[in-house]
Amino acid sequence: MAKKKSILDLINMKKNGEKAAWVTTYDFPMAAFAEQAGLDMVLVGDSLGMVTLGYKGTVPVTMDDCISHCQAVRRGAPDTFVIGDMPFGSYQTSTEEAVANACRFLKEADVDAIKLEGGIRVTDKIKAIADAGIVVFGHIGLTPQSAGQLGGFKAQGRTVDSARELIKDALAIEKAGALALLLEAVPPELTDYISRKLSIPVYSIGAGLPCDGQLIICGDMLGMFQAFTPKFVKKYANVAEVITNAFKDYVNDVKEEKFPEDKHVYHIIDSIEDFEKMFKEFE
Ligand code: KIV
Repeated sequence: MAKKKSILDLINMKKNGEKAAWVTTYDFPMAAFAEQAGLDMVLVGDSLGMVTLGYKGTVPVTMDDCISHCQAVRRGAPDTFVIGDMPFGSYQTSTEEAVANACRFLKEADVDAIKLEGGIRVTDKIKAIADAGIVVFGHIGLTPQSAGQLGGFKAQGRTVDSARELIKDALAIEKAGALALLLEAVPPELTDYISRKLSIPVYSIGAGLPCDGQLIICGDMLGMFQAFTPKFVKKYANVAEVITNAFKDYVNDVKEEKFPEDKHVYHIIDSIEDFEKMFKEFE
């Protein structure tokens, strides 16, 4: 078992050119699989709203949802760097509420860092949370919590004007005290520039290769999330098919009395004659 990483290890990985691989996980078994596979870190993303709770977006996800999923992930991956994702409404209203909610992630779910979406307009919150001693990951580009303002789940930073704003956001996030930055759905040219410009690690989800590592949503890469598949996803498995076929086989076995077999039952210890005698007591 590899030693659990700290933020200093992640910063050193950037210095040494070693890429970090992380996935989202939302529950105990998935977290355990991620730890066994040697992921550098896991994100308990508010994407749990879509991937595991069946919402159309991430906005309905609550602090309590995030805390209970982080707790399950921590139990499944005790030796992995875990990032808790601050849900919509948990940090926008005031710096006090942002710090209080960030503290809940550490006190109640034992996470190693929190992540929040947004650039310059949330740097007061990033600074306040970092000043409280908490490791903060920023997140810009396609920010699902504000997909409405972006006109949907759309790639960002594809024009010079839009890229300039994202660079300003990235610089402000680092200055505010964030110790890592996630870029979502931006062109690799911009990812390359930002990751060279910043001294904190810069990670990509749909933002190409030239940065310090990659994040992917477990439901997407495993072929479990069926509503849609973003262009930037590589499917490593088709778990939906595996599970659906297993359920179908089980239904057939039950209907045709092929399950359970003899090896799946507990046999009596006393004789059948003694059992039949006992049954008669009830007649
Ligand atoms: O919630 C999440 O999984 C995320 C990713 C989309 C980056 O924030």
